[in-house]
Amino acid sequence: MSSKQPSQKKLLRVLSGQSEPIPPIWLMRQAGRYLPEYRATREQAGGFLDLCYNPTQAEEVTLQPIRRYGFDASILFADILLIPQALGQKLWFETGEGPRLTPIENADTLSRDNALTHLAPIFDTVARLSKSLPAETTLIGFAGAPWTVASYMVAGRGTPDQAPALDLAARDAAAFQSIIDMLVAASIDYLAAQADAGAEVLQLFESWAASLEGDDFERWCVAPVAAIIKGLRARGVNVPIIAFPRAAKTHMGDYCAAVQCDALGLDTSADIDAVRAQVGDDMALQGNLDPQVLVAGGARLDVAVREILAKTKNTPHIFNLGHGIVPQTPPENVTRLIELIRGAPACVLKK
Ligand code: CP3
Repeated sequence: MSSKQPSQKKLLRVLSGQSEPIPPIWLMRQAGRYLPEYRATREQAGGFLDLCYNPTQAEEVTLQPIRRYGFDASILFADILLIPQALGQKLWFETGEGPRLTPIENADTLSRDNALTHLAPIFDTVARLSKSLPAETTLIGFAGAPWTVASYMVAGRGTPDQAPALDLAARDAAAFQSIIDMLVAASIDYLAAQADAGAEVLQLFESWAASLEGDDFERWCVAPVAAIIKGLRARGVNVPIIAFPRAAKTHMGDYCAAVQCDALGLDTSADIDAVRAQVGDDMALQGNLDPQVLVAGGARLDVAVREILAKTKNTPHIFNLGHGIVPQTPPENVTRLIELIRGAPACVLKK
């Protein structure tokens, strides 16, 4: 991104540290089960993974929320667990339950040799989107942060407390480190290829930052994300990077400085004013609306949105949720949300 010419894209302007009178908005998981058109394409595709690896269908579901709501950004449709699969770990989704992997305790059975070939359909999806998205819409690529991805690889599933990964890290730090190192290297390759294919922003999802504190937080959350960002910059990847350490029990200013991100995602529990005071005036912040408030709608939604708008006025802020939109969300509440932000009905794009 050039610092001389202001971008025509609102999201990129905010990521460069400018404030916007009407903030850019997108929602994590904006392509998903709350939309009937997503459920229809998902049904056609067969399974969730079939959808991720089918570039025309993945492009279609990525575009669906853009057509319906005219969001300022579009996030690639894929999943953070495609990297373990590309490294050779078995992955499947149990209907109604979530991801399953054959658990591992070290990187011995993993290999990066075929990873980028395995992930080629994802880069195809990115390339298609960079052509088909409206000119004002920013395309966001992503990966999971290593600690979060490793927590699924070690447990073989989602866990409320990441106990299996915590246990392995405590019992055999070298073995756990081998998994993290493999993920750092693979994530650099994966994100660089997304940027090459047309992703204009990259986001790192650290959904399980809350399970680590102190030195463990430094070693397993901060250091790997810092290494990914440093590795991308060393390769000449200059797109803005948003780090999202969900519910990190840490000083967000220190985290931001340590990982060298360009923007920080705020979960529902974050205190916007306190984080703003820590990171300074120029750092872009993103998020924080409670996804359950979007489910509730009505006066609660109006009040919560106006409160965030008031707190973030004249600061570089990207409107978003504090975590992904949930399947029970009524689509009309998202229309109302856009209306509250823009003061006008959601723009419906013709295509
Ligand atoms: O934000 C987007 O719209 C982009 C696509 C995206 C998905 N997953 C699609 C998805 C992104 C960025 C993710 C990230 C992701 N995946 C995270 C980090 C963010 C977070 O939510 O904490 C994690 C932990 C995963 C792993 C994962 N994928 C789980 C635990 C599940 C099952 C839970 C669930 O919501 O069903 C998934 C499945 C998944 N990933 C779905 C979608 C749209 C639902 C699949 C379906 O259609 O059945």
